[in-house]
Amino acid sequence: MPKLRTVAVLAGAALLTRRALRNRIQASPLWPMPALENPTSGRPRSRALKLVVASRKTVAEGVVQLRLEGRDLPRWEPGAHLDLVLPSGLVRQYSLCGDPADTSSYTVATRLVEGGRGGSREVHEQVREGMALEVRGPRNRFPLVEAQSYVFIAGGIGITPILPMLRALGDNAEWRLLYCGRSPESMPFLEEVEKLGRNRVTVVAGAPDLDALDVPEEAAVYCCGPEGLITAAQDRFPRVHLERFTPHAAHGTAFEVELRRSGRTLTVAADSTVLAAVRAELPNTAYSCEQGFCGTCQQRVLEGVAEHRDELLTDAERADSILICVSRARSDRLVLDM
Ligand code: FES
Repeated sequence: MPKLRTVAVLAGAALLTRRALRNRIQASPLWPMPALENPTSGRPRSRALKLVVASRKTVAEGVVQLRLEGRDLPRWEPGAHLDLVLPSGLVRQYSLCGDPADTSSYTVATRLVEGGRGGSREVHEQVREGMALEVRGPRNRFPLVEAQSYVFIAGGIGITPILPMLRALGDNAEWRLLYCGRSPESMPFLEEVEKLGRNRVTVVAGAPDLDALDVPEEAAVYCCGPEGLITAAQDRFPRVHLERFTPHAAHGTAFEVELRRSGRTLTVAADSTVLAAVRAELPNTAYSCEQGFCGTCQQRVLEGVAEHRDELLTDAERADSILICVSRARSDRLVLDM
């Protein structure tokens, strides 16, 4: 596998003083914010915090790192992510890549995705130092399990949830990292990762050959990166721990959806979503994350059997509700209360 040379692309940015930031936070009438409500049940969904962007800096080509300051922030474990509510109201998830012991700030990084769904562009073009942002979480669906050894596979910005794991394991555990990217300049935290790993880090340009990776039977394998890397890791390591940073395609077979109150019936194509079909008819239908975690698109199911693919609804909620951005139908037809 071709090796890349190591470079660090760190551009500093002016920081506000800690005191100025504290004053801003304490002056904010929104801090701490009330828990958000589930749009259907009205019960609290999760605690929301209003944090201030203390620093914003470029840490690799097309990658911006934000440090968000608050006080007495909930603790988190390596692998956790934060929901960021962007100025437009879009909600996007970003892995925490700072120090879990720091209860006064959270750090996230985001790559600008050309032709993406708009969240990364908003972070890059509109989020500035001193701005207040609402966050929810942290939550962890990618926790570090106990294992005799670890193999990490990271693609580009996929290094962000893995970096705190490497710091936590340090020299006290056996681990190796395969870190791939388009070029060294595009790979965030490359210098730190190489320092942490010394001879345990392999840096690869382009798509790695996972078949060439020698992985001990007892090793826990973790992968975060673009969809192609995730799929290759799943094929090679059936028990791999995965973290996606783009929505998993919510596709399947076609079915019909009746919108009872609107008196319309639609077909959801095999390669589309209920949300896309509904928005073609009702463009004002609310949605945000399109990944099944924010709850904005929740609708009541009046008839039919839903196939739930979200990460949010409880079993009780699933009895009569659906998140239409990711979930589909097990029956030929679903009837929604909209
Ligand atoms: Fe966020 Fe559907 S839009 S759960």
